[in-house]
Amino acid sequence: MRIDLFTLFPDWFDWFRGQRHVVNATESDGLELRFFHYRDTTPLTGGQVDDAPYGGGAGMVLRVDVVDAALRAAYEGSGSPSRVILLTPSGRQFDEALAQELASEPDLALLCGRYEGVDERVREHLATDAVSIGPYVLSGGELAAMVVADAVIRKLPGALGHADSALEESFSDALEGAPEYPHYTRPASYRGWEVPDVLLSGDHERVREWRLERSRERAARN
Ligand SMILES: C[S@@+](CC[C@H](N)C(=O)[O-])C[C@H]1O[C@@H](n2cnc3c(N)ncnc32)[C@H](O)[C@@H]1O
Repeated sequence: MRIDLFTLFPDWFDWFRGQRHVVNATESDGLELRFFHYRDTTPLTGGQVDDAPYGGGAGMVLRVDVVDAALRAAYEGSGSPSRVILLTPSGRQFDEALAQELASEPDLALLCGRYEGVDERVREHLATDAVSIGPYVLSGGELAAMVVADAVIRKLPGALGHADSALEESFSDALEGAPEYPHYTRPASYRGWEVPDVLLSGDHERVREWRLERSRERAARN
């Protein structure tokens, strides 16, 4: 899979690209990460990328011609990626089902906005999807893009130390879409806080049933 990130702040991703599972996925040839700075391809003078909003109001808006130029430069001669995703608080809320869907795509482009947002024509004509990571406003799309990329990358072959880790986890089919059950490790007793007996019983069938039950309980409670 290839993930292309379009941003005005590529250095925000320096930490992300060095994380173990991202490196694993890259080294096992499952992932190519690329970064594109809107300013590098802007058709405007002086590195301009934004402008005042029509109709007035506070803040600046990332221009459609700037985003279009960045996409054209990135995909000239190679065709657009299957999904071009604009990160925006007003988009479809990101969840595990969407992460799964995106992980099966060959390539993604993630468009990070800044300032007051992005000219609506990007959403209308250039993006295939508009995605929000939650009902709150961040300063830019970079953290949102990292959230989306992280949830997708951990589903790629070779990303996790144990491939099974991603099979039975919160919201997976294995848990009927419910949150994961609680985990415990040593010590079995700590300050009077005990690990449930069933987990120490060695009875795998009872453990399996107990875990499924706890998952369902959490789903019901949430
Ligand atoms: C300050 S925000 C713009 C907020 C916009 N004026 C609004 O009220 O919806 C700047 C950029 O951050 C990103 N962003 C902020 N919150 C986000 C969220 N919850 N999900 C996805 N992207 C977000 C978007 O790319 C957005 O263009």
